[in-house]
Amino acid sequence: MGDDISSTLLGWYDKYARSLPWRSPPGEPVPDDPAWPYRVWLSEVMLQQTTVAAVKPYFEKFTRIWPSVEDLAAAPEDDVMAAWAGLGYYSRARNLVKCAREVAGQGGFPRTEAELRELPGLGAYTAAAIAAIAFGERAVVVDANVERVVSRLFNIAEPLPAARKIIRERAEEITPDDRSGDFAQAMMDLGSGICTSKAPRCLLCPLQGECAGLKAGEPERLPVKPPK
Ligand code: ADE
Repeated sequence: MGDDISSTLLGWYDKYARSLPWRSPPGEPVPDDPAWPYRVWLSEVMLQQTTVAAVKPYFEKFTRIWPSVEDLAAAPEDDVMAAWAGLGYYSRARNLVKCAREVAGQGGFPRTEAELRELPGLGAYTAAAIAAIAFGERAVVVDANVERVVSRLFNIAEPLPAARKIIRERAEEITPDDRSGDFAQAMMDLGSGICTSKAPRCLLCPLQGECAGLKAGEPERLPVKPPK
């Protein structure tokens, strides 16, 4: 079942992946270029708490001014803070500079989820996303989109936050060994365009035949919010 889900979803992603400035085309090997993990890291930090539409112009600006992690590491913190103005959550920008300096000092980004997790500003989600998307390492990437999709696919009726344990286990089961970065981004695209919170477009969903939440009716009720 996990294999069916991942291969169906990857086939859908091959056709319908959003084209975003930090993404490589679906199915292509991860480029062996140090600019690549830099761009993936920058995008993932910007996308914490901020929408894709808001991030795009900032991502373009940052990569124009500072095309590599070494360039960003050499920038005065005030310049980076000024360029970040408007994106919000300014601790992200301070950690961005700290992290760039640390990474430049190490001679580049580490590849594994565990090493990435040690860097300033990188939580479990971001470390897994960079390992999978930038380095092609198998990692299980769980953000709010993935939580929503998984809770529906498996009809997980337990409320958050207790449901997170089982959601993670199910996400682990359906994450493929190959292409886990594409798989994660496919889940994000599905969660943002089809498996949306309020009115999911189940008729367009490539996983409609596999979705226990849809079979049970009212997938929009999942995941169940914590009791007040
Ligand atoms: N949100 C967080 N990371 C993302 C990514 N790589 N693609 C689309 N949306 C995202």
